[in-house]
Amino acid sequence: MQASLLEELNPVPNPYPIKSEVEYPEVWRLCEQARELAWNPALIDFSDLREAELSTEIREAGAEWWSLRAWMEHGAIPYGTERLREAIFDHQPFEIKQHIVNFIAEELRHHEASFLVARGLAAYQDEPRADYFKSVIPRFHDERDEKAMSFYAGLAVNTLFEQLSGELLKARYENARFESVRSACQLILRDEARHIQFGRIIMRRFFEDLTATDRALIGQKFAKKLRGSLLNGVYAVVNLPEGERARAGHNRALAAEHGLGATHPDEEIFIIQRALQQIREDIAPYSVEIPEIPEVDRVAPAH
Ligand SMILES: [Fe+2]
Ligand SMILES: [Fe+2]
Repeated sequence: MQASLLEELNPVPNPYPIKSEVEYPEVWRLCEQARELAWNPALIDFSDLREAELSTEIREAGAEWWSLRAWMEHGAIPYGTERLREAIFDHQPFEIKQHIVNFIAEELRHHEASFLVARGLAAYQDEPRADYFKSVIPRFHDERDEKAMSFYAGLAVNTLFEQLSGELLKARYENARFESVRSACQLILRDEARHIQFGRIIMRRFFEDLTATDRALIGQKFAKKLRGSLLNGVYAVVNLPEGERARAGHNRALAAEHGLGATHPDEEIFIIQRALQQIREDIAPYSVEIPEIPEVDRVAPAH
């Protein structure tokens, strides 16, 4: 290899000290639960979906929906690998690294379960068909935003999103009329509950000591990500361009009406509204505020 190329390779930082003492027993408990509650998406029997009497249009709508779910789950993988790298080279305690490794493995199995549902219905789409979406998903995670915050503040922001997506997932679980989809949703939810729990532990342990800058950044970054990518067809369709909003909304509505584990576009914003209110209440004691999100805050609540 040319000498000039070798110079461009990053040297591996000194790994020592490689810690083994548990500093956060609550996080270690989550790691043990992750071992006890491991599951295998490939063992879910999707024959109920394959044999169901559903029109091609409905199957395609459901496959599009579950492909989107798969891309969303996959979005956590690049995010997670960056955090793992930081945790390793910042010499975070063993259980923090173990939790992040579990997190990556769990998000990957959510991804797998989602593309298996899509295949059970029709075919998994490995790329969005709509152009707008090809550009939205890569912006799902912006490492520059992440690096602007301290390690634990960044982890906390991510778990606030886990809380929000957990609420949407709960509604999708309730919507699912097929046993296979129901159990996939339930098993994913069980993992997500641990991710949310991790966030609560982080908040209790680190939020008291956050700098004023970090406190302000957490709220801003949360609002930016929600408005900029998640309301653009990921969590909800409200910020989509008109034509795409109608197309994606129609498919989502079809999937929801046939119990394929989807949320109806007319209901999503209210679920987000309630979850956002809960998140604001949870972080208020730490003086962390989420700025106004007009698409959500200015919608009259559902009755
Ligand atoms: Fe997930
Ligand atoms: Fe998660």
